[in-house]
Amino acid sequence: MKKLIALVLACLLVVSLFAACGNKTTEDTSLQAVLDKGELVIGTSPDFPPFENLNDDGSITGIEIDILTKICEKLGVTLMIEQYDFDAILTGLDAGKYDLAVSGITATEERKENALFTDAYCLSAISLVVPEGSAIQGKDDIADKTISCQTGTTAELYCNNNGLKNNAFQANADAQMALTTGKVDVWAIDKLTAVDMVAAYNDEHDDKLVVLDEPLTYEPYAFASKLGNDALIEAINAALAELIADGTVKALFESYDAEYVDPSVDPTV
Ligand code: ARG
Repeated sequence: MKKLIALVLACLLVVSLFAACGNKTTEDTSLQAVLDKGELVIGTSPDFPPFENLNDDGSITGIEIDILTKICEKLGVTLMIEQYDFDAILTGLDAGKYDLAVSGITATEERKENALFTDAYCLSAISLVVPEGSAIQGKDDIADKTISCQTGTTAELYCNNNGLKNNAFQANADAQMALTTGKVDVWAIDKLTAVDMVAAYNDEHDDKLVVLDEPLTYEPYAFASKLGNDALIEAINAALAELIADGTVKALFESYDAEYVDPSVDPTV
């Protein structure tokens, strides 16, 4: 009897192994699944104005939300928004929590190994923010300073790769507060969000913050899906290309008073 059970278990194992292998070659239903359910579900960390921002009334608005609304119109589906911390956004794709990660995500070569990115739709940069009057004027002045940044971002990666002392926070607002309460010397954050958050802070406070001109890095933003979701990414790329070509994306940036830089521009020349 024991032998029989062992044999049955062995057979089941073989069958499930075959099934598992078979799955890998199943066709890509990523686009069809979105069209069938009539929804594109995005995962976002809405603490990143002007790209995605959680408003007091609980709504989430911003440039990327507007771009995705227009992409959804073209696909004929409804946009659904789910909120996560930034450092969970890319990993959540694998868990199948949403169809697309939308979070001012920089398309880095390293991230492309684990997620499928759309074409970039704009170019941003990482900037340094300091209190007005700070002696820090650029990246040459930060070697022995303490820097705040957001967990899981390219700003944190830059600090780690360059051996810079940093405090990483889940929420961007806390990284900003670390600077305004003097816990760190400088805050590293994507340029357009820096400009937006610093303007909001300076409006309400007597002490002022300054965004330094010199960028640390350049950051092409794109949206990401799970590896293998090529059909979905191709459809989004087609819609995105139209929105870039007809000036819609640029106009959206302007409507948020944000400077638009075409992703094909080489900023170093
Ligand atoms: N561009 C940076 C990155 O990809 C920061 C993005 C932060 N986004 C956010 N929604 N908080 O790492």
